[in-house]
Amino acid sequence: MKNKNNLSCCCVLLHFFSCLLLPALVFSHVHGNPANDIVDIINKNRTDQKLPLLNDSPGLGCMALQYVELCKGNCTDNNVVNCKPPEDDFTEVFAPNCGVELPTFGTITGLIVGCQRKYLEPSLAFSQVLIKDKKSLSSLTNKSHTEIGVGLVGVHKGPFFWCVLFSNGKVNSTFVLENRGEGIKQKKGCYSGSNTPCSGGQKNGVPFFVFFFICYVFILLFKLL
Ligand SMILES: *[C@@H]1O[C@H](CO)[C@@H](O)[C@H](O)[C@H]1NC(C)=O
Ligand SMILES: *[C@@H]1O[C@H](CO)[C@@H](O)[C@H](O)[C@H]1NC(C)=O
Ligand SMILES: *[C@@H]1O[C@H](CO)[C@@H](O)[C@H](O)[C@H]1NC(C)=O
Ligand SMILES: *[C@@H]1O[C@H](CO)[C@@H](O)[C@H](O)[C@H]1NC(C)=O
Repeated sequence: MKNKNNLSCCCVLLHFFSCLLLPALVFSHVHGNPANDIVDIINKNRTDQKLPLLNDSPGLGCMALQYVELCKGNCTDNNVVNCKPPEDDFTEVFAPNCGVELPTFGTITGLIVGCQRKYLEPSLAFSQVLIKDKKSLSSLTNKSHTEIGVGLVGVHKGPFFWCVLFSNGKVNSTFVLENRGEGIKQKKGCYSGSNTPCSGGQKNGVPFFVFFFICYVFILLFKLL
């Protein structure tokens, strides 16, 4: 009898905690922005080498997202982005799609782009996708950069694409987004500096659902006992 009471108490507790915790987990999952995490990783790497901190520019971030959005059909078997958008696309397509005010368009002083069959956590994306050769390493450590923007997007079941843009523009007055910094809402992908939740969607979606389901079955089993 005592045992049975313990069990139902346990069940109530479990239920209580899953009701409390699961929404919190879902919340943190949806609101995470891996593009911001990559900016933080890059800035940490730079400041550890006594290089100046880069300003997180949502205008640059959104254009980085546009770049990978355009290239997302072109990841080779060796994880190379085989895509060369015309230079004019920046001012004629990417900036207008983001709502970057054209008179504030600065100079893009660095571009790193990479792809991978599957989604990688920000620190792995940094070391395995973005900074994997001399050229990207020298862009990472270039003293003349002042601003950064990161975009990423994935297609269902991969591949996933990451892009980093650097600029030497005057902080906060280049790549300014219209509508008081809001710019134009993006339907897919994530970009740094954005205050709308990342709609990457792909990130751990399936494993999370499995976790949720297992918890649910667990609760049902306890109830049956
Ligand atoms: C910065 O990143 C590069 C590329 O991953 C790595 O080789 C280097 O050790 C890092 N530097 C610091 C100080 O973390
Ligand atoms: C992507 O690859 C296809 C096929 O190789 C090519 O025709 C197309 O121009 C590429 N896209 C871009 C934007 O470079
Ligand atoms: C840093 O970037 C600037 C602008 O693109 C370029 O002119 C310069 O050569 C780069 N410096 C190094 C050390 O790569
Ligand atoms: C740029 O804007 C951000 C956010 O408004 C602010 O925190 C930062 O100090 C500004 N930087 C400069 C150099 O004005």
